[in-house]
This record gives sequence, C-alpha cells and structure tokens, in this order.
Amino acid sequence: MRLKGKSALVTGAASGIGKATAQRFAEEGCTVVCADKNGDGAQQSAKEINATGAKAFAVTLDVTQADQVGAAIAKAIEQTGGLDIVVNNAGITIVGSVEQMSEAQWDTEMDINVKSIFLMSKAVWSHMKVRKGGVILNTASIAGQIGIAQDAAYCASKAAVIMLTRCMAKDGAGDKIRVNCVCPGFIDTPMIQGYFNDQDDPAAARQFATGLHPLGRLGFARDIANGFLYLASDDAEWVTGTALTVDGGLMAALPG
Ligand SMILES: NC(=O)c1ccc[n+]([C@@H]2O[C@H](COP(=O)([O-])OP(=O)(O)OC[C@H]3O[C@@H](n4cnc5c(N)ncnc54)[C@H](O)[C@@H]3O)[C@@H](O)[C@H]2O)c1
Repeated sequence: MRLKGKSALVTGAASGIGKATAQRFAEEGCTVVCADKNGDGAQQSAKEINATGAKAFAVTLDVTQADQVGAAIAKAIEQTGGLDIVVNNAGITIVGSVEQMSEAQWDTEMDINVKSIFLMSKAVWSHMKVRKGGVILNTASIAGQIGIAQDAAYCASKAAVIMLTRCMAKDGAGDKIRVNCVCPGFIDTPMIQGYFNDQDDPAAARQFATGLHPLGRLGFARDIANGFLYLASDDAEWVTGTALTVDGGLMAALPG
C-alpha cells in the first residue's frame, strides 16, 4: 500500500486519466476526492471506488472558477481530514491553428488547462504549508514538448503547465511541497477519441497516432495513473520539478 493513510483530490475524475488515477490511488490505500464539472460522473467514480471497500468522496466544481475551487478544496479537507495530494488533471483540447481558432476558444483552453492549476494550487498551498508538506501533480503532455499541427493552444497550454510545475516546485521546496507533472503520449480516453473525431478521417488519425508509439499501442489511462502513483508516493520523496514522460517511447522515436 504505497499511499496508505494519505488523502488526495483528483480533478477530471469523472473520466479517463483522472478516473483511473483516483482508482489507482484508492487501490494503494489513499482516500480520494473525485472532483469534476460533471457531478454525476464524479459521484459515479466515487461510488465505484467505495464499492471496492476503499474510501472516496465526490465534489462538483468548475476548475476555472476561483470560488468553486476554494469551496471544493475546503470541502475535500473537511471530508478527508486533510489533503496530502492534489492532482490537477482536468483538461480539454480544441483542435485548430491560430488562424482557425477564436479568441474565446483560446481563452477557454488556457483557463481550463493552465489557470485552473494556478487556482487549485493557490487554494491548497497554505493548507499544505501548515501540514509541513504535500504533493501537487499536474497533467501536462508530450504536446507541451513538441509542436503539433492544428493544436496551437493545447501545445502552448501544456508547455505552460510544465513551466508552472517547475516554478511551483522551486517555490514549494522550502515547505516540503513537491510539485511534478506527467507528460502522457496519446492515451485512449474519451478526450482523444474526440480529438480523432475532429480530424478528416478519424480511423486514419487513430492508426497514425498509434504508429507514433514504438511500444505499439495507445496508452491506457492506467499507464498515466501509475506515473502519478510513483510521483505521489514516498518513493519520489527527492523528486520535484520534473516532467515525467509516459508515452510508449514516442518522444524517443522522434527524428533528431
Ligand atoms: N488522452 C490523451 O491522449 C492525453 C494526452 C496528454 C494529456 N492529456 C491530458 O490528460 C488530462 C485528462 O484527459 P483525458 O484524456 O482523461 O480526458 P477526458 O475528457 O476523458 O476527461 C477530462 C475530464 O475533465 C473534466 N473537465 C473538463 N473541464 C472541466 C472543468 N472546467 N472543471 C472541472 N472538470 C472539467 C471533464 O468533465 C472530464 O471528466 C487532460 O489535462 C488532458 O489534456 C490527455
């Protein structure tokens, strides 16, 4: 049990990577708060975890709204008795080049993917400081390390997540607040299926994306959950400010 006695809040826990991370943490003895804009989905994730005998709660929030973020953190602290880990995972992708995207789309993507991490981390920071430590984990992407056509705002947002992770790691080190992120490759979740659906030929897009990964398949949400588990655990007690790439070898296989 690598997280026995710990408590975590995971955003985007109604689906995909967030749901798998909440489940994986619960398997390792962690009490989990499943947080999502999709309140029914968050409830369902918590219900499934509770059915295994582990302990989970649900909270509904829009991660872009400071008042909702503050209320969710307060509720999670009350439900769990204290938060050790926050996983800032909620995110979206809107396909398009700068030429094609509207200003509103740009703002929406930046708010959900980046500003949310600022708001969530700000809301939990003093709590972790008083507890003399904590772990903040963020979902970045290989899209924050390479440019992808027709994905300008997403790539820019995920590059910002990597840099925000580094800066918060430096700021938090003195208070034993560790901050790390994971950079997934293409992970088989509703979000990536939506991304494929937005392409001219969704089946070809899926096949192309699969072929980018030397290990021969798209990632499972659980692959990323396992990365988060390592970073959340005491095995990573000397790891902060890092971007852990979990991508089936995609980045290693790029030319140059
Ligand atoms: N799937 C991939 O290939 C992939 C690759 C790299 C990074 N990521 C990142 O992983 C994270 C999770 O993606 P996923 O693939 O599991 O997607 P998903 O669509 O399956 O899940 C995302 C969840 O975030 C929630 N959410 C969206 N906006 C929200 C908001 N404003 N407030 C609260 N919750 C909100 C959704 O309701 C949903 O439950 C995202 O940050 C995404 O950018 C995904």
